[in-house]
Amino acid sequence: MNTLLDVQDVTLRFGGVVALNRVSLQVAWGNITAIIGPNGAGKTTLFNCITGFYKPQNGHIILTPPNRSATHLHHLLGQSFAWSDLVHPGQVWGKLRAKMFGGPHSVCRAGIARTFQNIRLFKEMTVLENLLVAQYRQLNRYFIGGLLGTRYFRDEESMAINRAMEWLRFFALEADANRLAGQLPYGHQRRVEMARSLCTDPMVLCLDEPAAGLNPMETQALSQLIRRLKNEFNLTILLIEHDIGLVMELSDHIVVLDHGEVIAQGRPADIQRNPRVVEAYLG
Ligand SMILES: Nc1ncnc2c1ncn2[C@@H]1O[C@H](COP(=O)(O)OP(=O)(O)OP(=O)(O)O)[C@@H](O)[C@H]1O
Ligand SMILES: [Mg+2]
Repeated sequence: MNTLLDVQDVTLRFGGVVALNRVSLQVAWGNITAIIGPNGAGKTTLFNCITGFYKPQNGHIILTPPNRSATHLHHLLGQSFAWSDLVHPGQVWGKLRAKMFGGPHSVCRAGIARTFQNIRLFKEMTVLENLLVAQYRQLNRYFIGGLLGTRYFRDEESMAINRAMEWLRFFALEADANRLAGQLPYGHQRRVEMARSLCTDPMVLCLDEPAAGLNPMETQALSQLIRRLKNEFNLTILLIEHDIGLVMELSDHIVVLDHGEVIAQGRPADIQRNPRVVEAYLG
């Protein structure tokens, strides 16, 4: 297996609640991996760790793109500084820099993008503006360039608009480009969120319950779009979803969480038959 994302022994506690307990899983390059489990199992918390919103108390999450060196995601979030670090001055700057500038945006820059269980769009902005904001870290647009209206500045701006419009076209949202995001129907807002995350040009796309609140027709259309993202754009997808039909139809690999622990993982057909999964979740 060509592992792109390696989650090793990740533990995260909220006070007395152990939300993730020594969770390990591997995500293969170009696969759709589903994370399923009952409410409160720790699925979103795992996404928050992978995307840099939370820093686990133990464990490692390592991203290794093909032919590139591995990135330890927690290094991007800053590490606590110890006086003993001064023995290795080379590490001090790296740690301080991560502390000052690290965060979820650094993880996003490394190639991991996400959507949220509760849609988080800028509701007072247009759809297109939402997609442009997502690209600000990729653009080399300097304030002075903007003031002077340099050619370089304008080229960068039109590239960002083109990229946004391509993704809006993919999600059949072109006609909504200039509408306020908050005024769109729920199903459209879900697709805008996906389009926005894709504007960051990720390798891994993490979708937290993308089918929640959609009707069966919208769910079917979403399923086809997710499959196209894998097949046409070679994206690696992590999918949290309660719609088991969708999960079974799309996934190459399924990981089942219960009470913060991985209770099973494997191919869809094996998971469906696994007695522990049936008891804890599938019923
Ligand atoms: N910020 C937080 N502070 C305290 N406890 C939290 C926090 N976030 C999650 N938890 C707890 O961690 C556990 C896992 O929650 P999480 O949201 O990851 O579950 P989930 O599997 O995504 O559930 P659902 O299917 O309902 O979305 C729950 O017990 C939850 O109450
Ligand atoms: Mg959740």
